[in-house]
Amino acid sequence: MTDKTVTLHIDGMDEAVELPMYSGSIGPDVIDVGKLTSKGLFTYDPGFVSTAACESQITYIDGNEGILLHRGYPIEQLAEHSTYLETCYLLLYGELPNQAEKERFENTVCTHTMVHEQIRTFFQGFRRDAHPMAIMCGVVGALSAFYHDSLDITNEQHREVAAFRLIAKMPTLAAMSYKFSIGQPFMYPDNSKGYSENFLHMMFGNPCSESKVSPVLAKAMDRVFLLHADHEQNASTSTVRLTGSSGANPFACIAAGIAALWGPSHGGANEAVLSMLEEIGDESRIEEFVDRAKNKDDPFRLMGFGHRVYKNFDPRAKVMKESADEVLKELGLEDDRLLRIAKRLEQIALEDPYFIEKKLYPNVDFYSGIILRALGIPTSMFTVIFAVGRTVGWIAHWHEMISGSYRIGRPRQLYTGHVQRDYTPIADR
Ligand code: SDX
Repeated sequence: MTDKTVTLHIDGMDEAVELPMYSGSIGPDVIDVGKLTSKGLFTYDPGFVSTAACESQITYIDGNEGILLHRGYPIEQLAEHSTYLETCYLLLYGELPNQAEKERFENTVCTHTMVHEQIRTFFQGFRRDAHPMAIMCGVVGALSAFYHDSLDITNEQHREVAAFRLIAKMPTLAAMSYKFSIGQPFMYPDNSKGYSENFLHMMFGNPCSESKVSPVLAKAMDRVFLLHADHEQNASTSTVRLTGSSGANPFACIAAGIAALWGPSHGGANEAVLSMLEEIGDESRIEEFVDRAKNKDDPFRLMGFGHRVYKNFDPRAKVMKESADEVLKELGLEDDRLLRIAKRLEQIALEDPYFIEKKLYPNVDFYSGIILRALGIPTSMFTVIFAVGRTVGWIAHWHEMISGSYRIGRPRQLYTGHVQRDYTPIADR
């Protein structure tokens, strides 16, 4: 961090306030406003549009240039050359693994995919039509009731065991939430399969026949997990950090992240994109929906468009779009109706002055649903898939915070309510 300062001249205060500024390795400088409290002042930034809540070395985003780096490596290169588990290693340990490290990490993850047998009975407590994200919130939080041997957050070994357990077991729990919803028996993981191949096996296999997973579809699934792995201080990652800052155990923190991700403005958007494309139904109705998205009096938004940080193409959306084409071609679905609507909608929106002026581009969620639907994954599972992929990012940020110096997160407010007043007896109200 470099030692620059900013001088704040405040009306009504004789002396100016000197605030330190810091520079990162790349990206905007930050102003340390910590001393404002001693001056009787707070900063005000609803939605944290201009607030750096922490220092981090995991992921860097340049929204104007459409750049996403994981520990310095561009997402495009990781999507082309890496795998989800190798990217997990990179996010957690900061460097790409050598062959021995890669094999050890993959073996540790792939041999811890089973969940405690009693967790199977948890699912019986949910209604059959429960949304899979509701199940995931409940079951992931409940993991802390089973793994007492990895709850001491001050213990490095406990933190690593919890990380492995979560990365390894999220696909198993996700597949169980799907199987439960369709009344089929849970599939045990097959540890001879790769991470993403095993997930598709648990999702679509059944005890009555040997499950064969297409390598092309397993690769596409793996790329979807990789593209969702981490994304700086987004809403769900910030939720995990804030939850972790109180000392909560890692399973509770990840359950909090899952809950935050569920919203349609965040990870719930991929499910909302598919619902929107189905509602549009035909290319002839696209203009009608684009007009609705531009109408201030209409709450409808073009799902899968816009982003707090990207004011250019989301680089993940570009890779996702290429993967969608590959998967649909592999499945002989190049002429997929919803893909046609999605591509036409993107073309119309990107040429529309409203979207150009507001710099609204397709984000990661716009094409992910097309791929997931082509892989046979039901829409209700889309955000669960996002949660599985993002688990490593949540854990990496949680671990970065807990293994460094941190304080409990406790924002303040601009209070505009009543000033002090006396209690009014009910007879006088
Ligand atoms: C993810 O943060 C992350 O990194 C998230 C994520 C990750 O990997 O973790 O990238 C994943 O959550 C992607 C975003 C998925 N959400 C959607 O696709 C939902 C649709 N998008 C919008 O709801 C919105 O764009 C957000 C929530 C993504 C961003 O909201 P902001 O930054 O608060 O922007 P805003 O709501 O202030 O919008 C700015 C303007 C507004 O118009 P004005 O009030 O200035 O006139 O743009 C308009 C908005 O009305 N606008 C849209 C729009 N998105 C913003 N108008 C129509 N359709 C849209 N999709």
